[in-house]
Amino acid sequence: MQIRVLGAAAGGGFPQWNCNCANCAGLRAGTVRAHARTQSSICVAGDAGRDWALINASPDILEQIRAAPVLQPNRAARDTGIAGVLLMDGQVDHSTGLFMLRERGQKLPLWCTDPVFEDLTQGNPILRVLEHYCGVDRRAVPLDGSPFMIDGVPGVSLSALPLASKAAPYSPHREQSVAGDNIGLTLTDNSTGRRVFYAPGLGKYDPQVDAVMRAADCVMVDGTFWTDDEMIAQGFSQKTGRSIGHLPQSGPGGMLEWLDSLPATTRKVLIHINNTNPILDEDSPQRAELTRHGVEVAYDGMVITL
Ligand code: MLT
Ligand code: MN
Ligand code: ZN
Repeated sequence: MQIRVLGAAAGGGFPQWNCNCANCAGLRAGTVRAHARTQSSICVAGDAGRDWALINASPDILEQIRAAPVLQPNRAARDTGIAGVLLMDGQVDHSTGLFMLRERGQKLPLWCTDPVFEDLTQGNPILRVLEHYCGVDRRAVPLDGSPFMIDGVPGVSLSALPLASKAAPYSPHREQSVAGDNIGLTLTDNSTGRRVFYAPGLGKYDPQVDAVMRAADCVMVDGTFWTDDEMIAQGFSQKTGRSIGHLPQSGPGGMLEWLDSLPATTRKVLIHINNTNPILDEDSPQRAELTRHGVEVAYDGMVITL
């Protein structure tokens, strides 16, 4: 099984168009050692020669496809390496890229949970708009953990786990989360049994999530914020990371402590990094701390083969 990181940043990307934080300004000026990142998406295939499942449709999808020859047309006049799309939630950074796939010749196979389907047909009716173009062939993601496969992507089984995080701000149930607003995904290579757990939005510690993380060979988890008050301290928002569904890395009960408790053999990768997060600066003490703990920071173009 191969996983390619198409976009490792959280909503807004890095640098963010209107942001002058130390990271964004430093990257533009060339004074901070860091790499630009597009918004959150990965793709997975049973092996690198086959078609891919796109996991999340980022607003940056066209740029991401331009950077990934494996997703480009090469067999027919109109063609794609993307066999189907799965959404982890209905957030803008994970769903609006669907508009960019509208030229597809047939309905786009789309896996999502019921609450995400509802949000994308009501609160933010992307799927209704898409009906005027390619339309989608919607498949329900089961929330009981039962394994499923994406048609056209042999060799990989998927299994979802509802997570405590947040529905998108436009969702009618933003403040009353329901199961399936946000999921974590286990990707299993059917021939080797090796597993990756992927959760770009993970709001709090949970023993069930912990068990699934322990069973994985590699975890790719929420790297949005270093501190809970990061957006407040930098003057960008009044909200903590936890209150918008993102567990910070540092401090007691933070993601780093959680990752430390996993087996030493588990590969640990942070993904969905907000542009304010000091770990993006490769010379920062926070980045050095991650390195000491054996935790990697995902980047666009990163390939994980299991
Ligand atoms: C989030 O996960 O909270 C987002 O990245 C928000 C957004 O898309 O702006
Ligand atoms: Mn996001
Ligand atoms: Zn910024």
